[in-house]
Amino acid sequence: MTKVAPIDKRKSEHIRINLEEDVSSGMTTGLERYRFTHEALPELSLADVDLGLTLFKKHLRAPILISSMTGGTEEARKINQCLAEAAQETGIAMGVGSQRAAIEDPKQVATFKICRTVASDAMLFANLGAVQLNYGYGIDECQRVVDMIEADALILHLNPLQEAVQAGGDTNFAGLAKKIEKICKKLEVPIIAKEVGWGISERTAKLLANCGISAIDVAGAGGTSWSQVEMYRAPDEFTRELAATFVDWGISTTDSILNVKKAAPEMTIFASGGIKNGLDIAKSIALGATLGGMATPFLKAAMVSTDNVVETIGLIKSQIETVMFSTNTAKLARLKNTELLYK
Ligand SMILES: Cc1cc2nc3c(=O)[nH]c(=O)nc-3n(C[C@H](O)[C@H](O)[C@H](O)COP(=O)(O)O)c2cc1C
Repeated sequence: MTKVAPIDKRKSEHIRINLEEDVSSGMTTGLERYRFTHEALPELSLADVDLGLTLFKKHLRAPILISSMTGGTEEARKINQCLAEAAQETGIAMGVGSQRAAIEDPKQVATFKICRTVASDAMLFANLGAVQLNYGYGIDECQRVVDMIEADALILHLNPLQEAVQAGGDTNFAGLAKKIEKICKKLEVPIIAKEVGWGISERTAKLLANCGISAIDVAGAGGTSWSQVEMYRAPDEFTRELAATFVDWGISTTDSILNVKKAAPEMTIFASGGIKNGLDIAKSIALGATLGGMATPFLKAAMVSTDNVVETIGLIKSQIETVMFSTNTAKLARLKNTELLYK
């Protein structure tokens, strides 16, 4: 029987592989197909461009999310501290990685808790794999991970393909929608459903909307490919080849945003999956998203320092502001209605 890696080893491997190997999807986000209409006479001062927004009754200073990444090891604790300090300083949102590690081993609670310790006001999202609801988890575990970081919302991530192409993955997704619906009804904080890099179809968006989900993070194809990550972790040739097959799989980030908008027009959408900069976030907002998330760029910055993460966020903010200035758009609410041109 193939040996399954313990959670802490898996977490360390995820970080190492994402930093050292080429794990990019064979697909593109689709955002490159769009261009903004440039306005040569915007009649607006750059200083008046406002990136602020309200989400889940809290104010964010910019529509930027540090996507869920890590926790569960000492290295992960340091990364989480850098990311959370930067989120606090800049007023943006942050997700922690799957907190299953801390449910299984209470010693790991501190590697997540550090986020709230250093970011008392920041918007923080807890994280669990939705599939764990079929492996013994229920409302108690969901409440525990929320309490652990005093989270503003809970992300339930959906990663069927990642589970299917790894040795010993949790592949029973049968009847999950009903269980997600139950959690949505019982938990007091909003629930966000999130893919991990293969996007959201219209059918899935409808299903999630009917469960009572408050937001969908599309995590579309075009960025990190988790089948490629699993390919590098594969313990044997069979698993390696199985994972390698799916380098081109998924629904692009652009198509995913459009799918959710069509299937559930009222749904709050987070754009992620291959988002490279503030221009990509601005395009995603123009397509219908509320904010944009990134994973690896922030991971790389956190390996250097908190200041480096703050600088990265500063650049992304300036990129969004410059787009808004050059398209005569003072407020994010207006950016959502800005016309984009097809290339
Ligand atoms: C090192 C690393 C660990 C991750 N762990 C999680 C996780 O625990 N839970 C989750 O929902 N997503 C996780 N993700 C997925 C990201 O949140 C994101 O959805 C995905 O990487 C696609 O975005 P990207 O193209 O910007 O990397 C992880 C990503 C990275 C790079």
